[in-house]
Amino acid sequence: MKIAVAGTGYVGLVTGVCLAENGHFVTCVDIDNKKIALMKQGVSPIYEPGLDELMKKNIDKLNFTTNYKDAYKQADVIFIGVGTPEKQDGSANLGYVYGVAEQIAQSIEKDCIVVIKSTVPIGTNDKIESLIKNKLINNVRVAVVSNPEFLAQGTAIRDTLHASRIVIGAEESYAGEILKEVYKNFNAPILVTNRKSAEMIKYASNDFLALKISFINEIANLCEDIGANIEDVALGMGYDRRIGNRFLNAGIGYGGSCFPKDTKALHWLANFHDQELKTVKAAIDVNENQKLKLIKKSRKYFSSFNGLNVAILGLTFKPGTDDLREAPSLVNIPIMLEDGASIKAWDPVGVKNFKRIYPNEVMYCTSIEDTLKDADVCFIFTEWEEIKHFELSKYCDLMKKPLVIDGRNCYDLNSVKKANIIYDSIGRQRVVSLEPELV
Ligand code: UDX
Repeated sequence: MKIAVAGTGYVGLVTGVCLAENGHFVTCVDIDNKKIALMKQGVSPIYEPGLDELMKKNIDKLNFTTNYKDAYKQADVIFIGVGTPEKQDGSANLGYVYGVAEQIAQSIEKDCIVVIKSTVPIGTNDKIESLIKNKLINNVRVAVVSNPEFLAQGTAIRDTLHASRIVIGAEESYAGEILKEVYKNFNAPILVTNRKSAEMIKYASNDFLALKISFINEIANLCEDIGANIEDVALGMGYDRRIGNRFLNAGIGYGGSCFPKDTKALHWLANFHDQELKTVKAAIDVNENQKLKLIKKSRKYFSSFNGLNVAILGLTFKPGTDDLREAPSLVNIPIMLEDGASIKAWDPVGVKNFKRIYPNEVMYCTSIEDTLKDADVCFIFTEWEEIKHFELSKYCDLMKKPLVIDGRNCYDLNSVKKANIIYDSIGRQRVVSLEPELV
């Protein structure tokens, strides 16, 4: 089928490339000329493992352009995958989605379906369909179908090619059938429902996962006080298939482009309908606090950061991405800087983006060793594999005082006990394994 995709961010580009991998001819549209030039060479403008390779492999089935009219006019199916950033009041900014919808109305010259992949508030698909139908300049049949995206950054290709489910929200059955045809080579369960239910499935799924994380983080905080170990607790819970063992990793809170935004958006929507989603509100509040957990812990060791050499390992909101959106590093580092810390930081891919925000205030290192050299304290914000496999004895060898405050539970406590360090993590007992002369 001839497919056009609006937007070449995580959702749009990954969707386009995976559709090409499944035999479709796909034109990806973006307003950014530089990005288009890059993608034409098979280079992804975003860091996503496996994406470059898949783009290059399918380059004969992929086209990249800023000329939306040409892309939309003869397409059988047009996917909208542009951003819906959070507005000041927590609601979703739909400006980009509406902008693309208008362009579609003014471009299409044959019957087609428009598929909304962007996460949009419940009821938006209806509004987009009305907008397109009102602004059409040619006499064509068009239907809007909701098809929410469940990909996670870092595993986006796998999550799309081997999706847990494909949700299709259609008001007219013919439109749902066309989208089923698009996905016929994908080996995933397909759920066809109405548009509002499809929109709700996306929000409810993300908010449930966010809630699961905030729940385990609260239990972790209590474990620290009562002397329990959160990892064993999560393991014990996870054996129960009704609970499941995923998304029970305690840490310094969730970040990224979805959970923070989607929890706030659904909460906002409920308020708009005179309801309060108390569980979602709790997930949001717990997460805000959790992001500051390491700074609170550090108060046990020193009252101020003034004059301290601080080593930061990990800047991105999670491993496998260069994305900093809602990353705990962005909340913690400004506080430390304001308090007089000298900061050295390491991240395998996030430095370029972090440097845009803090070009001079932080010293960026290319190795974990350089970052730790002469540090008074080390904070771990992201569980990169390089950090998890870092030899623990080096903390003692390199740091002025080997105090490691780990927000992602990168190390098991038995290994830490042999490492000659002070190690404080989330939901587990603190380990002080220092030689007496170092204490
Ligand atoms: C998420 C959803 O997983 C995906 O289905 C949706 O389409 C978009 O939002 P993403 O934001 O890319 O994907 O990352 P994810 O792996 O879900 O992690 C989100 C945040 O939760 C990260 O900050 C991560 O560190 C945190 N997290 C995740 C935990 O703190 N504990 C966990 O057990 C899992």
